[in-house]
Amino acid sequence: MSDALESRILRAAATTADPNELPEFPENKSDLPSDFEYDPNEEEEVEEVEEVEEIDENELLKYLDEQENPLYIAQRLFYKEVNTTASQATCPTWKLECLGCKAIEDLYGHGWTTVDGLIDLSVLKGAREEAQEMAKEGAFTRASDLAHSEDPFRDHTARDDWITWLDPNGSKNSPNLQKVLDFFNGPLHHDLSRMIRLRGKTEYQLAEYKPENGARYERHRDAFPTDDPEDTQQRRVTAIMYLNPGWTQRDGGELKIFGRSEGNGMTDAADRTVAPMLGRLVIFLSGVVDHAVLPSNMERFALTAWMR
Ligand code: OGA
Ligand code: MN
Repeated sequence: MSDALESRILRAAATTADPNELPEFPENKSDLPSDFEYDPNEEEEVEEVEEVEEIDENELLKYLDEQENPLYIAQRLFYKEVNTTASQATCPTWKLECLGCKAIEDLYGHGWTTVDGLIDLSVLKGAREEAQEMAKEGAFTRASDLAHSEDPFRDHTARDDWITWLDPNGSKNSPNLQKVLDFFNGPLHHDLSRMIRLRGKTEYQLAEYKPENGARYERHRDAFPTDDPEDTQQRRVTAIMYLNPGWTQRDGGELKIFGRSEGNGMTDAADRTVAPMLGRLVIFLSGVVDHAVLPSNMERFALTAWMR
């Protein structure tokens, strides 16, 4: 965690009226949030077991949000303001490969956007079949079990998805999944890194929600908001490509985006849902947008890239 983020947390605690409500500052800061730690090139660290009174991640986010709208914090990671008419006029000079200027403006002004049709449907259908094949072969692990082994304090009831990490430079990816990874790694990362300060390290996760039991993922955020360009801990952008052909409302499993009222016309007070349809890409600022996966009644696949 960066110094800037740490000092914001401490300031948040210091300005709280009721001292009984102060969160205990976590001693092992790198544990927060624990599921950001994956690095395919890193040796697994043996963690010392510490007696830490764990503070609830959502509580901590609430304190930070009270200090400053996380959207404004994340906007400072953009190279320029993109929601002014003057900046919009410069759109042709942004030299984007796959995203439109409107998508960038939404990401800046609201913290999230969706784009359809960026990848060939036959590739996406192939990627889904490959994902199903991997599930059959037992490549997925229950995410809540992983969270438990990595962090015994974490709430393990929050998510029902099964996951596997992918390496875009690995040799054993199936061909269509590789094409989706190449899209994330290539044009999408190119466009986002032209607009947002990114340090380049990206994690790729394939997630499966099994069809039987209304699998869901409770409201959460993917990172703490930061404007520190040097920070390497916090995810900056979440991009999710859905792999669910023939999705209908009865299938459920929508992504719910929680609104935030700010009263200045920038942020959006209304909650929204995004249907996880084949080929739909949702992009959001990881430290900004609270989201959840609503109960799913189908086998639901999504490929996520977290960029930093
Ligand atoms: C996540 C997540 C949303 C989705 O894995 O952190 O929020 O729509 N996924 O799959
Ligand atoms: Mn998430």
